[in-house]
Amino acid sequence: MNNDLSNIKKAIKYLNNDQCVAIPTETVYGLAANAYSDKATSKIYKLKKRPKKNPLIVHYYNLDKLNKDCEFDKQFLKLYSKFCPGPITFILKLKKTSNISKNVTNKNQTLAVRFPNHKLTRRLLKFLKYPLAAPSANISKGISAISRSDVLDEFGKKIKFILDGGPSKKGLESTIVSLVGKQKILRLGSLEKNKIEKFLIKNKDDNKNKIIVPGQGKIHYSPGIPIRLNIEKPKKSEAYLVISKKKITNKNYFYLSKSKNLNEVAKNLYKTLRIVKKMSYKSISVETIPNKGIGETINDRLMRASKKK
Ligand code: TXA
Ligand code: MG
Repeated sequence: MNNDLSNIKKAIKYLNNDQCVAIPTETVYGLAANAYSDKATSKIYKLKKRPKKNPLIVHYYNLDKLNKDCEFDKQFLKLYSKFCPGPITFILKLKKTSNISKNVTNKNQTLAVRFPNHKLTRRLLKFLKYPLAAPSANISKGISAISRSDVLDEFGKKIKFILDGGPSKKGLESTIVSLVGKQKILRLGSLEKNKIEKFLIKNKDDNKNKIIVPGQGKIHYSPGIPIRLNIEKPKKSEAYLVISKKKITNKNYFYLSKSKNLNEVAKNLYKTLRIVKKMSYKSISVETIPNKGIGETINDRLMRASKKK
């Protein structure tokens, strides 16, 4: 516990000095910096090699802290009380008086906000006088990091400090929901579609407020080698990702789960993609994953990861 506190204090020191720090969340690790500082947030883009036009998610401790930066209504409060802290990101209207850096919003009038559910990061956010801008802690378009060693894999010595909170419990990014214009899911994520969809109000699309997710390109979450989906008979030379116990396990088989447990598959997906890549496999095939619940998000990520450059 004392160790946690001293690490949190270290993180605060770096963050107060406009440095980036990797933080654990229940979804994936974030590459965090002071969201009010132009200097700090510009370092995120540089480290990630992220295009400047791709805005960042801002992480808050609670509503008190959000009130300074965003407008919100009863519908937001309802969703907040149901799902937060948790794996959901809201697109809200930015207040004119907000101090959020222009780097974060790319000068849009909206802000992506999230209340992550991780003990260490919540303690950190509670102490800070500013919220944290934090995209996933990986080089742009690559596989998200779900542990300290993944973050090191991505950034090596370029990152000043990693707050180690153990492996991320969920293993896939948050679900992004727009509450500006038409209420809808913009990115599938760790909060299953069927759990959130029923709470969204069916309002009309307001053309002025057509919101998209700029960073959700076709190629994403990519291990850098080809992936084939829905495969029953893998080639001997490729890594085969499976989700249930097989009678014979060849040495190129990698278990995402042994019992079709899709939460386990979600948690193991990015880790396994990294392992396979490190083992120098030149291609990957994946067994069919049921397109239900979190399976929809897993398939979304695999589909994007399998796109050719
Ligand atoms: O689970 C997560 O959401 C993780 C953890 C660290 O919180 N973060 C994450 O951030 O996945 P990132 O930057 O890798 O993905 C955020 C996505 C990007 O594709 C970005 O384009 C989109 O959110 N985004 C950010 N601000 C937006 C806005 N105002 N409107 C629409 N999309 C936005
Ligand atoms: Mg990302």
